[in-house]
Amino acid sequence: MDKRQTYYITTPIYYPSGHMHIGHTYTTVAADVMTRFKRLTGYQAYFLTGTDEHGQKIERRAQEAGMAPQQFVDGIVAETKKLWALMNIEYDDFIRTTQPRHQRAVQQIFRQLYEQGDIYKGTYEGQYCTQCEAFWTSSQFKEGTLCPDCGRQTEMVKEESYFFRMSKYQDWLIRYIEEHPDFIQPPSRANEMLNNFLRPGLQDLSVSRTTFKWGVPVDFDPDHVVYVWIDALSNYISALGYGTEDDSLYRTFWPADVHLVGKEIVRFHCIYWPIMLKALGLPLPRQVFAHGWLLFDNDKMSKSKGNVVYPGPVVRRLGADALRYYLMREMQFGADGNYTNEAMLQRVNADLANDLGNLLSRTVAMVEKYFEGTLRQPGDYQEEDRQLIRQLEALPALVEKEMNSLQFSQALADIWKAISACNRYIDLTQPWVLGRDEADKGRLATVLYVLWESLRFIAVLISPVMPATPERMYRQLGIQDEQLKTWASLARFGSGPAGLKVSKGEAVFPRIDIKAELPLLERENEAELALGQPAKDISQAEAAPAEDPEITIQDFQKLRLRTALVLACEKVEKSDKLLKFRLKVGEEERTVLSGIANHYQPEELVGKTLVLLANLAPRKIRGVESQGMLLCAAEEDDSQLRLLTVDAPVRDGVDIS
Ligand code: ME8
Repeated sequence: MDKRQTYYITTPIYYPSGHMHIGHTYTTVAADVMTRFKRLTGYQAYFLTGTDEHGQKIERRAQEAGMAPQQFVDGIVAETKKLWALMNIEYDDFIRTTQPRHQRAVQQIFRQLYEQGDIYKGTYEGQYCTQCEAFWTSSQFKEGTLCPDCGRQTEMVKEESYFFRMSKYQDWLIRYIEEHPDFIQPPSRANEMLNNFLRPGLQDLSVSRTTFKWGVPVDFDPDHVVYVWIDALSNYISALGYGTEDDSLYRTFWPADVHLVGKEIVRFHCIYWPIMLKALGLPLPRQVFAHGWLLFDNDKMSKSKGNVVYPGPVVRRLGADALRYYLMREMQFGADGNYTNEAMLQRVNADLANDLGNLLSRTVAMVEKYFEGTLRQPGDYQEEDRQLIRQLEALPALVEKEMNSLQFSQALADIWKAISACNRYIDLTQPWVLGRDEADKGRLATVLYVLWESLRFIAVLISPVMPATPERMYRQLGIQDEQLKTWASLARFGSGPAGLKVSKGEAVFPRIDIKAELPLLERENEAELALGQPAKDISQAEAAPAEDPEITIQDFQKLRLRTALVLACEKVEKSDKLLKFRLKVGEEERTVLSGIANHYQPEELVGKTLVLLANLAPRKIRGVESQGMLLCAAEEDDSQLRLLTVDAPVRDGVDIS
């Protein structure tokens, strides 16, 4: 195993009771950002997410949809994985609680706890909230027998049940939380656990159910299924192979560095889970971090309320990086915040199109205008240069500290302070004035070098949050050397070598016409809502699929479709599907990957003129940057796949409209 320091981060495993919305996306993006950040700074990181597929709630949803539970969750899980791919989320493992590897671990854990006397058999009589999958006692109700968490009517349950002796561990847990102030973050959540649950006294917890079947059977008493939270929490170790012959991941990564959770499920993670681990004799996770809620009209977005925003429309229209940036920037991690498309669009325009986008395009344009696109050696630095350089040199350590306390918004705010400082530096140094006089060319070279190198720093620093944007920046800055994209290269301002060739490209974030964009986003969200409705509406949605939303000619014009001549084509090593093309598109050449190797021999494509989507954000696939997409006609299951071409010879690089 790798000797680097390790880092293990998890998201909650989500209920596949309906399609994932922007709230689930928020937690999952945060975990992805941390994973990328840790890798960037030299850690061996492991990122686990997944789905919590058992329990009465899912069983009922499946019934309402007229499906078997497994079939029902399979559909939602497939959509969830597509969504995470769309968001550029790269998890190491996706655990599903219906997988045999997980079920075996749960049965083993339950049996051990029973055999050592922590679990005993009795009868449960009390109220149960199916929505929250939680038991409540009379002293915990605030209003009648409404669930204190979600406000829904609880149900009376009376059945034989196994119980976990939680009370036995109560004093130990109180002391543990008091002695480990970092264990529960933010600290207000620790106080909530101590004051509302632990100090008033824990009741023994009912940990099995007999009145429904959709769960992990207790192997020594198959009338019982394991309580869904005991089942779900075990995922954090079952996914690492805990208790199996190959537990090398468990030995490498447990205890977790942080479990990210929404604030509503802190109780399960900070009371039940530590007690389970203590009883099993296992170490506790180093931290449980409870973040706040994304609110919609001041109400928590939720799958069951249907008041949700889906990420799909935003990502398809603006790209994943814009949404990832907004989610990480807008709210302090730990606090609640409203989500509105309008605020999101405003921020994208202000921070990404204006501040970052203009800085890049102005810098590159000036290097082209004054130095034929070549980055020149800087001369001696003056005080105004040194001030900016000091700010940038201080940034990596500051960002690292903030990221390590999961203060994403603060880290981004500090990076954007530097971006603003760069824009002010342009106003101050007035390169367009320096450019008028040959005698000032040396000074101009220094100013443009400082800006160029600052942009390189910024591209590296934003890469965990916006994984696609830095590559687009590097292309314009003329950076190919992978070393110049590393965290280590930020140790010294000035690592970028003179002589590199910049090249102007498309705006990294084109300015959005908010008035025109808002209704489009909202319409697309409604279409997704119709399809993404939990359970009972799914069958209707399938019977009458929402019409394809109309687009305007302006929407279509956003696509830059061009003819492209195939200069060369070859199979990508170790990939069954991918072909790598070298294309000539007018004046430029591009590399593009396409998943069509099962349908064409590379040789037959050389010399053909194809249709290229030329302004698609570049994407790295198997270490190769694909700079656009070739259009194909494809059967839904990919059984037939044909490249689009033109019906008579046409020059390459011609626009298609
Ligand atoms: O609780 N704002 O699953 P779940 C922010 N299966 N985050 C939100 C959110 C919102 N409006 N809505 C959802 C479960 N989330 C259990 C977890 S873990 C062993 C079992 C995020 O589908 C947030 O992380 O209800 C929250 O805790 C989680 O989704 C709840 O997902």
